[in-house]
Amino acid sequence: MCCKLFTVTEHQTITTSQIHVDRVTHTYETETGALPVLNDLTIKIEENRFTAVVGPSGCGKSTLTRLIAGLLIPDEGEVWLKGEHVSSPRSSVGMAFQNPVLLEWRSVLKNINLPLEIIPAEARAQVPSNRGQELLELVGLAGFGDKRPSELSGGMKQRASLCRALVHNPEVLILDEPFAALDAFTREDLWLTMLRLRDQEPFTGLLITHDLREAIFLADEVIVLSARPATNQYSLDLSDFKIRTLDDLYTNEAMDILNVLRGQIQQASEISLAER
Ligand SMILES: Nc1ncnc2c1ncn2[C@@H]1O[C@H](COP(=O)(O)OP(=O)(O)O)[C@@H](O)[C@H]1O
Ligand SMILES: [Mg+2]
Repeated sequence: MCCKLFTVTEHQTITTSQIHVDRVTHTYETETGALPVLNDLTIKIEENRFTAVVGPSGCGKSTLTRLIAGLLIPDEGEVWLKGEHVSSPRSSVGMAFQNPVLLEWRSVLKNINLPLEIIPAEARAQVPSNRGQELLELVGLAGFGDKRPSELSGGMKQRASLCRALVHNPEVLILDEPFAALDAFTREDLWLTMLRLRDQEPFTGLLITHDLREAIFLADEVIVLSARPATNQYSLDLSDFKIRTLDDLYTNEAMDILNVLRGQIQQASEISLAER
C-alpha cells in the first residue's frame, strides 16, 4: 500500500495533543494468516495527563505501546507525538515494562543512565549530569546507585526501571504493566512513588494495566479496549475524582467507578470468548 504524505504544518492545525493515536488499524501477518489486532483505534492524551488503558488479554495493548514508540508503523491511521508524525523509533519516549531487564554488569546508576548513551547529543546536553542520581533519591533508592541489579528486590528493580524511563526527560512515558509481577504491598508502594514522581515533575503518559484499582489510582482517564481487534469500547474521565491516598480506593465513589469498569471489561472479555 502506498504511504500517505503529511507536512507538519498541515497537521499542526489538526492536533496539539501530546499523544494522538489517530484511527489506527494494525494487522500482524502470521504463519496461520492475518491477525487483525487494532481496528480504528483513537486515543488522545493532552500534556501532563496520564491515561490508563485496560482490556482483555491479547487485545493489542502492547502493540499499541510499540506503535506510539515508533517501533511499529500502523497499517492505517497515524500516530502523532506533540504534533510530529511518528514514522520511526522515538527517543523522546520513555518506556518501562513488567520485566525491568537491568544489565547485571552495570551498576544501578549506570543502568538508569543507559538512555543517555543512546539519545542524540543535543538531547543529552539538555539533561543535568546528576539527573539519574536525583531520580534515584526521588524513588527512595538513594545509596543504591553503586549496587548491582541482583542486589535489589523486585520492587527496587522496578523503581530503577522507572528512573531509566524518565532519565532523558522524555516527552511521554509509556508503562506496560510495570507493576504486574509485584506483590500487593510493593505494588501499592510503587503507586505512591508514581504519585510523588508526578508531583515533582508532571509527565504525559500511558499506563497499560490489568489492575483497575491501579488504573483509577494513577490515571486521569481510563480507556477500556474491546476484544481483538481492539477499538475504543469505553472511556471514563477521572479529572474530578481525585485520589490521593490508598484509603480513597475504598470509598463508595471508588467502588462505583470500579464496578462500572469491571462491567466494561467483562463485556469485552465475553465478546472475546464468544469469538473464539
Ligand atoms: N510480532 C507479532 N507477530 C505476530 N503476532 C503478534 C506479534 N505481537 C503480538 N502478536 C499477537 O497479537 C495479539 C495482541 O498482542 P499484544 O499487543 O501483545 O496484546 P496484549 O498486550 O493486549 O496482551 C496477540 O494475539 C499476540 O499473540
Ligand atoms: Mg501486553
